[in-house]
Amino acid sequence: MKSMMPPKRESCESMETPNTCFTNAFMLTFLLLNLALETVAGADTYSRDDFPANFVFGSGTSAYQIEGAANEEGRSSSIWDTFAHAGYVHGENGDVACDGYHKYKEDVKLMVETGLEAYRFSISWSRLLPNGRGPVNPKGLQYYNNLINQLISNGIQPHVTLHNYDLPQVLEDEYGGWVSRHIIRDFTYYADVCFREFGDRVLYWTTVNEPNVFSFGGYDQGSSPPHRCSPPFCAIKSNRGNSTYEPYLAVHHILLAHSSAARLYRKKYRHKQHGYVGISVYSFGFFPQTNTEKDRVATQRARDFFVGWVMEPLQYGDYPISMKTNAGVRIPAFTTRESEQVKGSFDFIGVIHYTNINITDNSDTLKNQLRDFNADMAAKFSGLDLFSNEEYPVTPWGLREELNNFKLLYGNPPIFIHENGQRTASDSSLQDVSRVKYLHGYIGVVLDALRDGLNIKGYFAWSFLDLFELLDGYKSSFGLYYVDRDDPELKRHPKLSAKWYSRFLKNRSTSIVGTVELEKDPSLVSIGHLFE
Ligand SMILES: *[C@@H]1O[C@H](CO)[C@@H](O)[C@H](O)[C@H]1NC(C)=O
Ligand SMILES: *[C@@H]1O[C@H](CO)[C@@H](O)[C@H](O)[C@H]1NC(C)=O
Ligand SMILES: *[C@@H]1O[C@H](CO)[C@@H](O)[C@H](O)[C@H]1NC(C)=O
Repeated sequence: MKSMMPPKRESCESMETPNTCFTNAFMLTFLLLNLALETVAGADTYSRDDFPANFVFGSGTSAYQIEGAANEEGRSSSIWDTFAHAGYVHGENGDVACDGYHKYKEDVKLMVETGLEAYRFSISWSRLLPNGRGPVNPKGLQYYNNLINQLISNGIQPHVTLHNYDLPQVLEDEYGGWVSRHIIRDFTYYADVCFREFGDRVLYWTTVNEPNVFSFGGYDQGSSPPHRCSPPFCAIKSNRGNSTYEPYLAVHHILLAHSSAARLYRKKYRHKQHGYVGISVYSFGFFPQTNTEKDRVATQRARDFFVGWVMEPLQYGDYPISMKTNAGVRIPAFTTRESEQVKGSFDFIGVIHYTNINITDNSDTLKNQLRDFNADMAAKFSGLDLFSNEEYPVTPWGLREELNNFKLLYGNPPIFIHENGQRTASDSSLQDVSRVKYLHGYIGVVLDALRDGLNIKGYFAWSFLDLFELLDGYKSSFGLYYVDRDDPELKRHPKLSAKWYSRFLKNRSTSIVGTVELEKDPSLVSIGHLFE
């Protein structure tokens, strides 16, 4: 899932001292370039075998994005169905998606051919528990049992997320979903059902996918489900919500629900199932726009607001000081008991990373009486247009830097890279050279980070297939496999990236020389023989 932070381009012209600005920008560029060259040089010649045998490589999807069968066999709506059906995603929705609900056997076969060692997917809460709690839907239960068994019998490790933007609509309607404390009880009940039914085969559980972006998009800007916000902060107008307060409240309840589920697992299941419970967090690579004290401080503040928001409570039992200072009473306080429950309530952290942003100090917003998350953060972001189909630049040193920060700032937790991948426009040509370069560069820095002693356990390329994406529907594509939406069978076709990843996973050469040649003259090289 990609983020929805709006692009806020700031140029040096607006600064007081243009000359200093130019020099600093130049020096920063120079430094980054040096880093880039080093990174590329170090990462060029690796193979699967350079990673530890128990490091896992996989790829991911999520329930609403792949399953389809939205109204079949007892599934009820989630807040994502509601959002999509209101027309906010180019009028597209996940009613059919990739029809993964019916095609799971075919998809697992593709995973085997690709050589995936692990598959990250999510469970649709409203498929398993159509009332949000209470009776289990036997058809939903059977579907997930079938999928998990199919994976296990093919030697593919399931990594399961419980909540990926798809809270049952019935709970949103009943009490406001994540803005109510009732959600803690209901989420724990849902997690209990999943641990009980699937925990004999599933060892890796992620409670909630990127709570930071979920809350910012869903409760501040209103640009993603559940589409709550208040003026003047709404990106998509809504008559429900409170942008000044609810983003903090939602993350607070997510942390409490997460820790409640993690505690339940430890008490009731861990001794017999021997699995792990974690949570994922979205992270940019954060860089100061200029080498000034103000921008450097603003960069750390932005990191606090994005990553520290989730990581500091988990690691230290409380929110970052910068957040408590700037949000004041609008950020809920943990009681001593809650703080103790949240602290340490994870076995791993899932890091979701796509791209870097530059940060400029924007402390003026702190003078505003009415402030949202953005205004409290008091930082401006600049980078590529996250709302577009623009391809991400291959700037893997940002991931390297942020992985380091997990070590320096958040206690070096065990990490899975849960999502990382290249966005392109949906394209039937299958010649996704930029995705190959992206994966090659990013997997390379993961190897560098491992060699430097970081505690990284696995890497999941986003996404396995071209999916229904959060804001772009089917217009943007992250998949290793193209899904032909004009074909009633929704046939999957391997892109160049699937072939490259497959070669890598099978420990064959991953040199990208061939792709560079391909880019010069695509007609010269047939895909099948590209890397031979
Ligand atoms: C939002 O919540 C804050 C804090 O509870 C409150 O002061 C403010 O009036 C609310 N604003 C709206 C638009 O409801
Ligand atoms: C960040 O700033 C550097 C140095 O000015 C520049 O080279 C780079 O393109 C910027 N990155 C983004 C994402 O805007
Ligand atoms: C994997 O590839 C590397 C580099 O080509 C080679 O040195 C190693 O022996 C291979 N490992 C296996 C298990 O084939």
